[in-house]
Amino acid sequence: MLQLDFTNIDSSRIGPDRGLEWRRELAAATPRLREAAAALAGRSSDPQAMLGWIRLPDEDPRELVSYAAAQSWASDVLVLGIGGSALGAKALGAALGGGGARLHFVDNVEPEPVAALLASLDPRRTLVNVISKSGTTAETMAAFLLALDWLRRGLGDDWRRHVVVTTDPEKGILRPFAARHGLSAFAVPPDVGGRFSVFSPVGLLPLALAGVDVAGLLAGARRANESARSEPEANLPAQTALAQYLAWRKGQRISVLMPYSTRLALIPAWFVQLHAESLGKAYDRSGSRVHVGPTPLAAVGATDQHSQVQLFREGPFDKLVVFVRHREADQDLTLPAEEGLEELSYLFGKSLFTLLAAEAAATAHALAAARRPNYTIFIDRPDAFHLGWLLQHLMWQTAFLGELFNVNAFDQPGVELGKQYTYALLGRPGFEELAAELRAAGVEP
Ligand code: PA5
Repeated sequence: MLQLDFTNIDSSRIGPDRGLEWRRELAAATPRLREAAAALAGRSSDPQAMLGWIRLPDEDPRELVSYAAAQSWASDVLVLGIGGSALGAKALGAALGGGGARLHFVDNVEPEPVAALLASLDPRRTLVNVISKSGTTAETMAAFLLALDWLRRGLGDDWRRHVVVTTDPEKGILRPFAARHGLSAFAVPPDVGGRFSVFSPVGLLPLALAGVDVAGLLAGARRANESARSEPEANLPAQTALAQYLAWRKGQRISVLMPYSTRLALIPAWFVQLHAESLGKAYDRSGSRVHVGPTPLAAVGATDQHSQVQLFREGPFDKLVVFVRHREADQDLTLPAEEGLEELSYLFGKSLFTLLAAEAAATAHALAAARRPNYTIFIDRPDAFHLGWLLQHLMWQTAFLGELFNVNAFDQPGVELGKQYTYALLGRPGFEELAAELRAAGVEP
């Protein structure tokens, strides 16, 4: 199950200035949430609307699962991708991996870590999965050029078996490159954007190679879809979107995601991209300048209780904190008694999971006592089913927020110019005008 506890956003708990009269405001927003759901449903068959992520949980993963099973020779998978082409698999691989190949991600272009990673791997036992929907992303393509050279030097003509390409089914340079060399290839559906692609081969292929239960992930994601198609009273993503939207309007412009779990520690990084690229927009759908978007912030409990929680509790009243907690531990540890450390007797005989749960409950209440709004997403266990549900829930939340802010949550015009300036600085043909602009401004690499 995935359940929400909104107690600590309610004005009865945190006061009328910053709190919400949740039941009343949810009822009042019901027509608007229905309208948002209808707008998304209405656009879902339009490929330009980029809502293909909604149908991904219903697709059959057998082809990629059987490809992954046939690669049992690979002890390591080098995943080359950035942003939406890396963050989902990175987060879920860290949470759920362990039964298959080790995943290594190259999602930056700093030479030393790339060199160190290649030096640590054996090309004979390494599969390279290059992931780029566009096939033009400079960071990913640079890593691919290096990986190809590394494979060729290590394996000679046998390098082809060590590369699998994930890219657009037709566009871009990777598809013809794969065809020319007879490389295995999987498709990123054209109507699925990078940050919504975790349940396409972008995320599922590396996860299957790592031994993750991809069928479980998809089954969980289907539960989020069911919920997102329900009436607002039972529609969990519409409810969290509404809570986020109302909090933003009350001045809580920073949205913190704080799982109480080391295994889930990378999920906030995935969420940060999802919310930031989708909702940080200059213009709304009617073309008016709006400059909206909650600032997403990553935290992890209990670790950040000794770091960011000081700011959350006593700093500006500008945050909504969302905790993610699991109700059951897969494995627990009992704290033994120790003579001479009787000061710690309150811990003796308790389980480590009880301490984690107590810390989460205490932090949520301590924030509420300081009139800081927070709510908790409870999942039963951090397994494939529940994490599939959680991530698809957060994608739906983002889509509903796009409707509430009246922005297109599925484009990212703000990142384009930086990419183009990079091409210009590196002398890519077609970017001469920008190169001249940069020269005039004294900008150089
Ligand atoms: O969410 C997005 O659209 C981006 O973060 C992309 O995933 C990222 O820029 C990588 O793009 P590509 O897969 O085309 O290399």
